[in-house]
Amino acid sequence: MDSSFKSYWQDTIKTRNFAPLQENTRTNTVVIGGGIVGITTAYLLSTQGVDTIILEGGNISTSATAKTTAKITFQHGAIYNDLMTRVGKEKAFQYLDTNRNAITHLNKIITEHKIACDYKTQPAYLYATNNKEVEIIEKEKEAYDNLGVASFYQEKSILPFPVKASLAVTNQGQFHPLKYVYSLADIIEKKGCTIHENTRVLDIQGSKSPFKVITEKGEITCENVVVACHYPFFNDGKHGMYFFRMYQDRSYVLGIRTSSEPFDGMYININNPIYSLRYQFDDKGALLLLGGGNHRTAEKEDEKASYKELELFSHKYFTNPEINYTWSNQDCMTLDGIPYIGQMSSNIKGLYIATGFKKWGMTSGILSAKIISDLIITGESLNTDVFNPARFSVVDSAKNFIVNGLEIAENFIMKLMPISLENLSEVKVGEGKLIDYKNSKIGVYRDEDGNYFAVVPHCTHLGCLLKFNTAEKTWDCTCHGSRFNIFGDVIEGPATLPLKRIELQ
Ligand code: FES
Repeated sequence: MDSSFKSYWQDTIKTRNFAPLQENTRTNTVVIGGGIVGITTAYLLSTQGVDTIILEGGNISTSATAKTTAKITFQHGAIYNDLMTRVGKEKAFQYLDTNRNAITHLNKIITEHKIACDYKTQPAYLYATNNKEVEIIEKEKEAYDNLGVASFYQEKSILPFPVKASLAVTNQGQFHPLKYVYSLADIIEKKGCTIHENTRVLDIQGSKSPFKVITEKGEITCENVVVACHYPFFNDGKHGMYFFRMYQDRSYVLGIRTSSEPFDGMYININNPIYSLRYQFDDKGALLLLGGGNHRTAEKEDEKASYKELELFSHKYFTNPEINYTWSNQDCMTLDGIPYIGQMSSNIKGLYIATGFKKWGMTSGILSAKIISDLIITGESLNTDVFNPARFSVVDSAKNFIVNGLEIAENFIMKLMPISLENLSEVKVGEGKLIDYKNSKIGVYRDEDGNYFAVVPHCTHLGCLLKFNTAEKTWDCTCHGSRFNIFGDVIEGPATLPLKRIELQ
């Protein structure tokens, strides 16, 4: 099994670099984040003559956009019956319609610019493997009918394992997300948009336009700011307190060559364990993308078990599976399962956010770009109330979040058996552990050569206790999903500062 965790998309794209910001400047709109949301927003703005600069802390599209299974669909699991019940038919329809339009927008961009990104029209299937899930699918079918969505309910399936029922929608799609993003980056540069990599944003100053975006490399004065950096990094009260309203969830993908006959379509089941399947076709033939193993970040005792679970599944149902790729992703989850797209804070005009895509980031990314570019260009975006970030009061969110967070923290304190410093040798090679030392904890990792690396295992975002990720050898935070490498450097936010390192004697 390949343990580099490089996705298929990263392995099959020729990347290019963009210079960091060099000096203070002005523009109309700064987009923070160079993933699918940021690049597509910049495209829609620059097409309409809006001066735009993209700032990316690392390299563009190395995070969620590079680690997706790249399905383009409005079928986001069994969501519509649930939405009809919780937010009503009108908002459920808004959710559907904006996602459906996002597929059309994406097709329009790809066709207009002849972008070679392996786009393939596909049906999307929700499938059930037991009677309880069949009931859920039947209710989902009723919701589709109620919302006017053409769909097909079937009791047969071409999947190579027992399926009791499935619900299909046609004219969905799949693509190579990095071929799309890098092609669009070339296009927007020609339209005058500038992309700066390795330019980390430290702060946004101002409560109304013009804003000052402060980076390590200089400042940009602008009329609008779009926060498209996955999880927002602000901890102050005036920026909407998103850390009370979102956590992060991990999922895993195997890229498998197999001698089983490939099938068309994109598939996902309903309840855990989740198994998502679709094929990617290239000059070597068909590569099965098998996704699943989902869990809240830092919630699973042994993350390697998620990869193992997928590997066992592939051996059970596919012939001669050969695993060519293994990678994982991390997604922002909102309290009600609906993304936050629009004005970031109700009292700051000109500051926008797109986040909380709940593992459906490709379609949600395109629709975010459309909504936010409409808001910037025309001042409104029709039928998008359902995504309004102002729908929760911070007090309610804090209450929900704290209850949820505490349950998980307690679980971990029981599971992680700290060992004393004298017993440092109990930290096995390739393993990380929390160790009690003088009434506090330190996080220790031991590498293959027997070297120890120790850090203060408290997240630099808001201080939660970290847990060692056994698969990727990182220190992960259950509260909002920040992740740090064994040296303490940030590899995923919202944390922006490294962990304190400890010298062991
Ligand atoms: Fe917020 Fe760790 S990510 S406390």
